[in-house]
Amino acid sequence: MKQYSKRMVIAHWLTLGLLVAAWFLGNSLSDARHEGNATLAGYLIHALVGDAILLLTLLRMFFRRQDGTPAPAGSGVMDKAATGIHHLLYTLLILLPVSGTLIVLTSKVWDALMAGDAGLLPRKFTGVLAHDVHELLVNVLIAVVIVHILGAAKHQFVLKDGLMSRMSLRRKD
Ligand code: HEM
Ligand code: HEM
Repeated sequence: MKQYSKRMVIAHWLTLGLLVAAWFLGNSLSDARHEGNATLAGYLIHALVGDAILLLTLLRMFFRRQDGTPAPAGSGVMDKAATGIHHLLYTLLILLPVSGTLIVLTSKVWDALMAGDAGLLPRKFTGVLAHDVHELLVNVLIAVVIVHILGAAKHQFVLKDGLMSRMSLRRKD
């Protein structure tokens, strides 16, 4: 096996697209709340995109089990580091949506959604632990994704070993 299966490749790039959308929506939501014009739809759409990432990640872990993965690209410490980064990414892709869901369930956002009244949306998330955790995890994810992309770029432009083609839909064989 020289490449990831097609469904693993689709899930990888779809996750990237959904993450960009969730990140943008989350920040817009936070800005809107600070300006006092957050909407119920804003919270719902961000939650839907975020939870879609959770579902896709669980599905992807199932595909991984079924389809397997290509053999490690190299050997030694760098390879172990890359595998560690991949595991960390999967963990974050689960914890981030879970913490987001917990914000909704443990804050006034839930009451506002249930009542269908945007006037009940909180202006502040003081004392909502899940909100602090969610913000922290967003920053950790961004840092780990940057390391992941730098690793992929090193393979592509320095080592020139064709690693990117392992995550491509164009089949080699
Ligand atoms: C991987 C998925 C997710 C990503 C990348 C993400 C990203 C973000 C970002 C960037 C923010 C703004 C943080 C800030 O204020 O600095 C945010 C806030 C928030 N997210 Fe998420 N999120 C995800 C999943 C979810 C889910 C599944 C839910 C709920 C079901 C959720 C609920 C919230 C809430 C309630 C806020 C607070 C908005 C505010 O401050 O008014 N998130 N998210
Ligand atoms: C421009 C952005 C990205 C590039 C160029 C990229 C590239 C790659 C490549 C080439 C691989 C295969 C590595 C190998 O064969 O050993 C890979 C695997 C992986 N990528 Fe990305 N990636 C990107 C963004 C992301 C993002 C945003 C995430 C999730 C937050 C992510 C999560 C993963 C994971 C978990 C694997 C391991 C797959 C497995 O073994 O199950 N990637 N990526």
